[in-house]
Amino acid sequence: MTEVIETIASLRLRLETAGSIAFVPTMGALHEGHLALVARAAELADTVVVSIFVNPLQFGEGEDLDRYPRDLDSDVAKLPDDVVVFAPSVAELYPGGASETLVTAGEAGTRFEGASRPGHFDGMLTVVAKLLNIVRPDVVVFGQKDAQQVFLVRRMVRELNVPVTVDVVETVREESGLALSSRNRYLDADQHRAALALSGALNTAAASATTRANALAAAHEVLDAEPAVDLDYVELVDPATFLPVADDYRGPTTAIVAARVGTTRLIDNRMLQLG
Ligand code: PAF
Repeated sequence: MTEVIETIASLRLRLETAGSIAFVPTMGALHEGHLALVARAAELADTVVVSIFVNPLQFGEGEDLDRYPRDLDSDVAKLPDDVVVFAPSVAELYPGGASETLVTAGEAGTRFEGASRPGHFDGMLTVVAKLLNIVRPDVVVFGQKDAQQVFLVRRMVRELNVPVTVDVVETVREESGLALSSRNRYLDADQHRAALALSGALNTAAASATTRANALAAAHEVLDAEPAVDLDYVELVDPATFLPVADDYRGPTTAIVAARVGTTRLIDNRMLQLG
């Protein structure tokens, strides 16, 4: 039976004899993408800890905090038996109400996802810092699907000298190409078909990646052809800075895209080589 621990004190006690620890932070609604992170974590350490916590601090006004899927029993049933699940309440993690001490994502946290979700990345980094302090893992595993989150977590770990290794796992996709996401469940059949334009645009951009302008034009052509896709951004960023690359840039870049399909906000990314 998978162990589910709800308090920080009990988790600390349990982890005293855990050996090396690999940690997978999640907000639940687990799918194959999360399970790939858990499988990777199992390769890296003696004990795997998975946190399941819908972090109110990273949701803005009018976002989907209330409707975000929460089903602890079904999440736990998807996990291997030997995983330790940490599922704290909001009061356990934020006993004094919303944390007044925040880790700030700075300017990089105000671009792209941060532009349409003000405060999101401060809330995300703050809970990740708290969870790292609670679990004290040797390695923490994230999915490349949230490319900006990965960039910011890596930078926080480096800049704050957090003693943990960050391991990143490739995005898991449906056969159709759609990146797995807990939010895909909100899509009806037509929206699901329309959402394929996101991965389609990234693949087309990769195929025409001679210059930034060519790659972006190719991506726009695919996205513009799908009226149900309300594009927020598509851009090519330098993986080292998460800033848009210059027009004459040649080398590896991350192509990122975000769009609303119906009321559901979706993101995706892929690496491509310019030049
Ligand atoms: O990627 C997520 O699910 C969340 O942002 C994380 C890392 C679990 C922090 O709440």
